[in-house]
Amino acid sequence: HAELRGDEIIVVSNREPYIHDLDQHGGARVRRPASGLVTAIEPVMRACSGTWIAHGSGTADRDVVDLHDRVAVPPDQPMYSLRRIWLTPEEEQGYYYGFANEGLWPLCHVAHVRPVFRESDWQTYRAVNQRFAEAVLREARTDDPVVLVQDYHLALVPALVREKLPQATILTFWHIPWPNPESFGICPWRREILLGLLGSTILGFHTKFHCKNFLETVDRFIEARIEHEHSVVAVAERETFVESYPISIEWPQPLEGDWASPSDCRRLVIERHGLPEHAIIGLGVDRFDYTKGIVERLNAVERMLEKYPSLIGRFVFVQVASPTRSSLDEYRAFQQQVERLSVRINSRFGAGRYQPVVFLAEHHDHAQLIELYRAADICVVTSLHDGMNLVCKEYVASRDDEQGVLVLSRFAGAAREMHEALIINPYHVEETADAIYRAARMSSGEQRERMISLRHTVRDFNVFRWAGRMLSDAARWRLRARVEERV
Ligand code: F6P
Repeated sequence: HAELRGDEIIVVSNREPYIHDLDQHGGARVRRPASGLVTAIEPVMRACSGTWIAHGSGTADRDVVDLHDRVAVPPDQPMYSLRRIWLTPEEEQGYYYGFANEGLWPLCHVAHVRPVFRESDWQTYRAVNQRFAEAVLREARTDDPVVLVQDYHLALVPALVREKLPQATILTFWHIPWPNPESFGICPWRREILLGLLGSTILGFHTKFHCKNFLETVDRFIEARIEHEHSVVAVAERETFVESYPISIEWPQPLEGDWASPSDCRRLVIERHGLPEHAIIGLGVDRFDYTKGIVERLNAVERMLEKYPSLIGRFVFVQVASPTRSSLDEYRAFQQQVERLSVRINSRFGAGRYQPVVFLAEHHDHAQLIELYRAADICVVTSLHDGMNLVCKEYVASRDDEQGVLVLSRFAGAAREMHEALIINPYHVEETADAIYRAARMSSGEQRERMISLRHTVRDFNVFRWAGRMLSDAARWRLRARVEERV
């Protein structure tokens, strides 16, 4: 990550990397949120320091715990600054729950949940984007900082920052899919979103497919010059380079040396959840979100037990689901549906202490997840649509014993890199059921071959390489612009 040294780096995102919640005694408890964005950006910030601007989302009372707008993090070993923006409940409702998560999230994921666009949410989204842009301008010490804008919550920030700091290098990364022009075109403010993003020097997506969709969307809805060959969009002579940068995780993983052995992890998980002694453990780890295909996954588990009854009494599926956006109706209805489904499967196939589905609808920290990953024979990722999905990469990184099988949705960006997984269409219950069954019976030798290859991919294309590639492209781009100015 040499590319990161020496520049002033400002990250701006909605989600903060450390959340201070109120504990039972009125003090603060710090936790890491379940977010692919945080998983990826945090190690980069630890490596290069700088400032991270984000929405302060914890429940801890600021006066009680003496939290300041700026804190040094990580709390136990400070390496960079976290600058929090406090939003009013109305701002959070309109900008985060409303426009970002009832509008843009379903719009871009195309998981057959209808987006909701309210004028008032849009106005709040604009105002909050303005607040984030002003925070960037206040934090900047130079007139050409490197500003890393993250995700769909802040689509207007690049152009707002560009207007005041024309020399800044603005790298925007869109962490979710970009749909085709027909799908994106139903957004009433499609032009504003596109022009906001085109304030960036570089605009990154996870896959080439998303870049192509973006360029076609620009072509359809705004006046711009597009050089497809060089992946460049120019609006009024301002150019943006659009490129794919598949996001990843840290390698090696933090505290790897302290991990318990896979057999100890397995023993602990079996004891903790009362699983059969020789259980075949399947695992799902997700935010509790309708895009993750949890219903389809449980349907496949049910079908597998129906079709292959020899596994009844042995196969257990542990599903971790971190609560998320639960104040939205769509999420609450989905969460109840999943809970009902797991009760149904357990009443159909459970007997005595044996429950085929262990449902853990609570936040798990990294150490707890590592224990589960190392205990699991199979990790199942069934996203109906996902920008990348980092759970599958974390599973692979945790398996230094080269065992375990990954079942992966073809609709997750990760499927374009992780070819040695068992790739499935989550909408096809029969195919998913058969893949989980195949994973349950896979020989240790085949597991090893597949896992070694997957581990090479995640190791070689780790998150430092992701950030390094974006930054070296930015440096090249800046140089080119300077040379052209002289001509
Ligand atoms: O993987 C990245 C991501 O999907 C972000 O786009 C999103 O912000 C995050 O994970 C989790 O959602 P939230 O921030 O709403 O908890």
